[in-house]
Amino acid sequence: MHSLVCVFFTVVITFLFFNGATMVESSNRSLVYDQKDVSPRRELVGIKTSFKLPSPLPKWPPGGGFGGGTMDLGGLQVSQVSTLNKIWAANDGGPGNVGATFYEPVSIPQGFAILGFYSQPNNMPLFGHVLVGKDVTDDPLNPTLKPPTDYTLVWSSVSVNIKKDGDGYIWYPNPPDGYMAVGYIVTTSSEKPALERVRCVKFDLTDTLESDVWIWGSSKSLNVNGFNVYSSRPMNRGVEAMSAPIGGFVVENGIGGNTLSISCLKNLKGSLVNSMPNLDQIKTLIQTYSPMVYFHPNERYLPCSVDWLFQNGALVYHKGDESNPILVDQNGSNLPQGGSNDGTYWLDLPKDGSSKERIKQGNLQNASSYFHIKPMYGGLFTDIAIWLFYPFNGASRAKVEFINISLEKVGEHVSDWEHITLRVSNFNGGLKSVFFAQHSSGTWVSASVLEYAIGNKPVVYSSLNGHASYPKPGLVLLGPHGVDIGLRDDMEKSDKVMDTGDRATVVAAEYLGSIVVEPPWLNYFRKWGPKIQYDLDKELNKVEKVMIWKLKKAFYKFRKSVPREVLGEDGPLGPKAKHEWSGDEMG
Ligand SMILES: *[C@@H]1O[C@H](CO)[C@@H](O)[C@H](O)[C@H]1NC(C)=O
Ligand SMILES: *[C@@H]1O[C@H](CO)[C@@H](O)[C@H](O)[C@H]1NC(C)=O
Ligand SMILES: *[C@@H]1O[C@H](CO)[C@@H](O)[C@H](O)[C@H]1NC(C)=O
Ligand SMILES: *[C@@H]1O[C@H](CO)[C@@H](O)[C@H](O)[C@H]1NC(C)=O
Repeated sequence: MHSLVCVFFTVVITFLFFNGATMVESSNRSLVYDQKDVSPRRELVGIKTSFKLPSPLPKWPPGGGFGGGTMDLGGLQVSQVSTLNKIWAANDGGPGNVGATFYEPVSIPQGFAILGFYSQPNNMPLFGHVLVGKDVTDDPLNPTLKPPTDYTLVWSSVSVNIKKDGDGYIWYPNPPDGYMAVGYIVTTSSEKPALERVRCVKFDLTDTLESDVWIWGSSKSLNVNGFNVYSSRPMNRGVEAMSAPIGGFVVENGIGGNTLSISCLKNLKGSLVNSMPNLDQIKTLIQTYSPMVYFHPNERYLPCSVDWLFQNGALVYHKGDESNPILVDQNGSNLPQGGSNDGTYWLDLPKDGSSKERIKQGNLQNASSYFHIKPMYGGLFTDIAIWLFYPFNGASRAKVEFINISLEKVGEHVSDWEHITLRVSNFNGGLKSVFFAQHSSGTWVSASVLEYAIGNKPVVYSSLNGHASYPKPGLVLLGPHGVDIGLRDDMEKSDKVMDTGDRATVVAAEYLGSIVVEPPWLNYFRKWGPKIQYDLDKELNKVEKVMIWKLKKAFYKFRKSVPREVLGEDGPLGPKAKHEWSGDEMG
């Protein structure tokens, strides 16, 4: 009787829970988001409102070009314009059928010219920028910017059956020989825009651009004929890459292919130090934006500082000599340095059972956050990666129809390195977006839709047991089966919270040379935990055995689809051994 009531109750809960859930395709798996909206009012705030960070930006400490408003890419000076004037909107189509709006940059600083326009979906507050450019070579025979020779109409809404504000026309600037177009122009008339409306950029100051996130386009019912608009990013990304996007959109036209591709800019200066923050500026950035991380009320495996782990008896094992592990020095200075993850060394918790159980729970009160500061997109942005260390990762949990399943050993491992990355504009120090790492994948979220704790400090939710980061509380199901079956990430606010600005340690900022001393543990490239030996199928069989037949069928489906990377049985590597250390997030 008791269980019957319970089942009925959960069915109701489940039904309510998934009312209005949205599916998000993310590489090979679909995530079902069912997250409570933190600020219901914001849901209603669409593109008609402009987004501003909750608090004014601080005055950045002096030094260098960080926050200086302009940047010289090598004969081409660029500035960031975020005052945008609406040109045309489609009121349906695109992701969620919410439509998109196209903008021209206005209030352009004296002497600068437009390089391209901006576009974004209609369900978010207006928040964007595009770069404008100025030739500073003083070489009239060989300028870095030139007007186009003509325009090509890429697309117009005239014969398209959509809800629209009048008609929109998207134009590709035909570049002169030796120059490239880096953006499109949008008008509301079939007449070609004036040639002086936009500039093309000298070839050697450009690089290859690719489409990023879908903004608007094809939907079968809308008959937009394979025409799509995306945000853009450089093809070459990472701390060494000099490609610099203007922040505009790209279009792909299904009919007849697309040879009218646009480029991004390239920083020919090579040196990024000029635009990047110095140590004082980094300190102010940390004070301003360091996120508040909330843990689930049931979380048992909280973070700690790496020093605390070492001071509490962490051991380093050497292959072939497993019976003689060595106590790690309190500052990690006897860890093997450099090399690669060759399986010869690994860390583990103390053998003593009671110390082990205590250490697994972490030490939230004195936990540190480890900051890595790096240039991105040719020095246009500073990426601030914030790494948290957890001594233990708890078991994976699953939802099968209406029940919760703990997968026992599955997913458990010693040591868990997780991170969040802030992307900050070097023109003004404004926060652009935040990356939330989730099980070897993750999502970029615009600053305009984040929750903020105090001032401009974003809120991050750490998922129960697995410590994936999310911008909202609630339930996220991982797996291809929609709302019924999948691995579950549960996020909820509790009094377990960490201000990553307290005990913040900058562990690396390579562009500053030797100013930042890297701790020895950062250059330990082997595993931070042992490989856990268990038989996945045996563990899943145990779970399946206790299920009633109807659920068995659903569980079978789950078993076949469970994303293996989430079930990690291998000890994790440290921050510096991960690809995102020197690359862009998600490659
Ligand atoms: C997606 O699947 C392909 C092939 O099935 C695989 O090579 C790739 O690593 C997967 N990507 C992710 C992010 O899991
Ligand atoms: C690290 O600790 C060892 C002793 O445990 C000490 O000899 C060494 O000086 C320390 N190194 C640093 C950089 O603090
Ligand atoms: C945190 O660190 C302080 C100062 O080192 C110490 O007094 C305190 O006991 C520590 N708290 C915990 C829970 O470890
Ligand atoms: C499943 O777990 C979540 C998160 O701990 C909890 O909120 C929910 O009530 C659980 N559902 C059942 C049926 O136990």
